[in-house]
Amino acid sequence: MTTTVPVHLGDRSYEIHIGTGLLARLDELFKPVVRGKKCLVVTDTTVAPLYAGVCTSALSKLGVTAAQAVIPAGENSKNGEQLFRLYDAAIACGLDRKSFVVALGGGVVGDLAGYAAASFLRGIQLIQIPTTLLSMVDSAVGGKTGINLPQGKNLVGAFHQPSLVVCDIETLKTLPRRELVAGLAEVVKYGVFWDAELFELLERNADQILAGDPALLAKIVARSCEIKAEVVGKDEREEGLRAILNFGHTMGHAVEAVSGYGHFLHGEAVAIGMVYAARISENLKSFPVSGTTRLVALLKKFGLPVGAPELAWEPLRRAMAVDKKGVAGKLKFVLAGNIGEAEFGCETPEDLMRQTWESMRG
Ligand SMILES: NC(=O)c1ccc[n+]([C@@H]2O[C@H](COP(=O)([O-])OP(=O)(O)OC[C@H]3O[C@@H](n4cnc5c(N)ncnc54)[C@H](O)[C@@H]3O)[C@@H](O)[C@H]2O)c1
Ligand SMILES: [Zn+2]
Repeated sequence: MTTTVPVHLGDRSYEIHIGTGLLARLDELFKPVVRGKKCLVVTDTTVAPLYAGVCTSALSKLGVTAAQAVIPAGENSKNGEQLFRLYDAAIACGLDRKSFVVALGGGVVGDLAGYAAASFLRGIQLIQIPTTLLSMVDSAVGGKTGINLPQGKNLVGAFHQPSLVVCDIETLKTLPRRELVAGLAEVVKYGVFWDAELFELLERNADQILAGDPALLAKIVARSCEIKAEVVGKDEREEGLRAILNFGHTMGHAVEAVSGYGHFLHGEAVAIGMVYAARISENLKSFPVSGTTRLVALLKKFGLPVGAPELAWEPLRRAMAVDKKGVAGKLKFVLAGNIGEAEFGCETPEDLMRQTWESMRG
């Protein structure tokens, strides 16, 4: 069974298809969407041997010539050097304005290939085929693309919506468990800031989800995509509401940066950040203590961290200040009033920020 989630963005609207075995049917899914006969499939060294073959043979059924560019797996590839390698590959295979880029992989491939598509010839068509849970529920949807600079993450980028997103749940079978679990943190996030029913579904079915039940995975991917699509449909360029997607991320990003990138996976740091935001919410938004208890229990059940690691407050506070979402030194948090309800743009007293962190360390 395939679920289709529409993303309503006027003339940049597109569909997200979620199901099992979709890679083998890419020709059918691509047919109504692509105009050109040439494309560059960007993937990484882990994903290429697993899924690039099935992808390119489906494209050949459509009469599309697909060249391949394979980047080394990992966050270190989201840089200018790899970006220019992609431009070289695009020129070598003769891409023109009608051609398209296929991003086949996790968020690293999606962001890098997405930015290449956004900038090459001032922008060509992009199709996202996410193969990690995180990229299915988050990075492949919404149009943010970009690369890192030595000075910081995601400092160069563009909004470039894909024309199509294909989430083949079968690809999650080969995903390392730690990566799957990190993606689940983002799904929990959608439950907390938007959808109490999704949160309950996760609570009821945590074991089956961890065991890789494809129907449940498809369900939580589809619901997460619906929520992201609704938020992005209302605020594509993060002028307001889109900030709500950052629940747990202010502290999450700081934990990632201060512990040294790579120590925690992004989703793991977000899990810690969500517990932190929930505790602040107890103080400022009457978030029920039982809500925090449920959040902690669910994250623990998935095997995500919930306590504060041994990191001093001052560097974390500095890291939160430089996170580009903070405006002019004023930190704004997304805080929850209940499970399924949150507000963005919440100012938080300095002493509460610090005490909350210290209470999580105790
Ligand atoms: N654009 C956005 O809106 C947005 C949102 C969230 C995160 N991001 C970005 O996404 C990136 C993280 O994405 P990620 O977590 O997917 O990381 P990733 O792309 O590095 O993938 C994680 C690892 O899993 C491997 N992998 C991917 N699919 C696999 C599969 N099916 N089977 C086996 N191995 C597989 C990859 O090779 C990699 O080693 C970060 O750079 C982050 O900044 C972007
Ligand atoms: Zn995130």
